[in-house]
Amino acid sequence: MDFNSQLFNLDIETFAKIIDAMYDEVLIYDGNYNIAYINQACSRHYCCSPKEMIGKNFFDFIEDKWWEPSVLPLVYKNKKSYAIKQTVYTGKELLTIAVPIFDQNNEIKYVVMNVRDEVKEKDIVNASERIETFYSEKMNTPVFKSKIMTELMELIKKISTVNVNVILLGESGTGKTMYAQFLHSISDRKDKPFVSINCASIPQELLESELFGYAKGAFTGAKTQGKKGLFEIAHEGILFLDEITELSLSAQAKLLHVLQNGEFLPLGATVPVKVNVRIIAATNKNLKNLVNTGNFREDLYYRLNVVEIYIPPLRSRKNDILPLINFFLIEFNKKYNVTRYFSETALSILKNYKWQGNVRELKHVVERLVITSDTMIIDASMLPKTLFNIVDEIDDKLPSQIQSFDSAMNDFEEKLVKRAYAQNNTSRKLAKYFMITQTRANKLIRKHITNNTSF
Ligand SMILES: Nc1ncnc2c1ncn2[C@@H]1O[C@H](COP(=O)(O)OP(=O)(O)OP(=O)(O)O)[C@@H](O)[C@H]1O
Ligand SMILES: [Mg+2]
Repeated sequence: MDFNSQLFNLDIETFAKIIDAMYDEVLIYDGNYNIAYINQACSRHYCCSPKEMIGKNFFDFIEDKWWEPSVLPLVYKNKKSYAIKQTVYTGKELLTIAVPIFDQNNEIKYVVMNVRDEVKEKDIVNASERIETFYSEKMNTPVFKSKIMTELMELIKKISTVNVNVILLGESGTGKTMYAQFLHSISDRKDKPFVSINCASIPQELLESELFGYAKGAFTGAKTQGKKGLFEIAHEGILFLDEITELSLSAQAKLLHVLQNGEFLPLGATVPVKVNVRIIAATNKNLKNLVNTGNFREDLYYRLNVVEIYIPPLRSRKNDILPLINFFLIEFNKKYNVTRYFSETALSILKNYKWQGNVRELKHVVERLVITSDTMIIDASMLPKTLFNIVDEIDDKLPSQIQSFDSAMNDFEEKLVKRAYAQNNTSRKLAKYFMITQTRANKLIRKHITNNTSF
């Protein structure tokens, strides 16, 4: 077809721009499995720019299992069109339609693929708007996929509009602060203040005046006009008391008083201030234990924990790890203006790591790797060595009780392979290191690194 034909009424440059701007991915292979063209939509699907993909061969991607199942060989073999659902290495599901284009001799000249996100019809209507707002909306919305977090999210939505106090429990870095902010953003108090204070970061002697304020000339050194406390500032909104266990017993008594009476007396004041404040408190300590040992008031505990929400550690909700990695990857690729993605092996190691520092640690690792890597693919060899160090813990002590000899040996083999793989991240290198055949090394990699299904 002649591109100058009046049929188009478009010059080739404009035409190319239009295809590039299409929401669906357009991917064109030549007759030899090479990518001849791909439009910008590929960055949404594979976290990768067209420049990085054009010219590459289909089998370069297959080796790294970019998408499964693959359809291209079928099109070349049977010389007909196919439509299939594919899963990309990021976990994204796509609908791919592949159409062959023939030359005069009826040989395949090109294969044109149209790759579409699995979006629901109602989303398509607002597609452009959706893309614009997706990033900013997502920034303050927790990312999750696990069943336990899905249920927890349901609970948060349910209680968001009910005026009850909430306690968020969980290890450091699990997302307590984030969920507190999220709860505020969907609550009926969203247009009122969200005031946050970390009770551990303020000296105890200042904490009470910070929370409740003081009247004119309440004490020497006080501002002459007095000072509004955070309770007053949070009026009609939400006060987030982070690290609540750090409140002194006297501050706890005052807090209980406000919760019971809806009013408090600023330092040195004679007239009480009435407030309507919803409290969200958080701690990474065992609050019930502190109550039992007399370090936290029991009556305050019951006032605060009308709803108690426990955010589980990341290692016990492994299905959230991949979505979180992808989310942070997009965030940091955008922030640092680069295009990086993880190799499948690297992802597998990240998914199976124990993440003692929870989401915060994962986020930092992704950020560091995006900044320090200068190749498009972040491979297992680039991961911090600490991610492989589990083996060191068992080197000098045997477990007091083992399930069986075989399972203990299997555990040991896994740790040995993981540690060795950190330094020798191809089957060839690993084979040399262990002095075994490459086939056996390959088997070990598949068993302990890439096919780890323990989550
Ligand atoms: N589900 C999530 N989706 C996206 N980002 C998350 C999620 N959970 C946590 N984060 C991010 O991880 C980091 C740590 O989370 P956050 O500060 O809320 O943890 P925390 O439980 O309050 O920790 P600490 O006990 O130390 O205060 C933050 O940058 C937060 O934005
Ligand atoms: Mg916090």
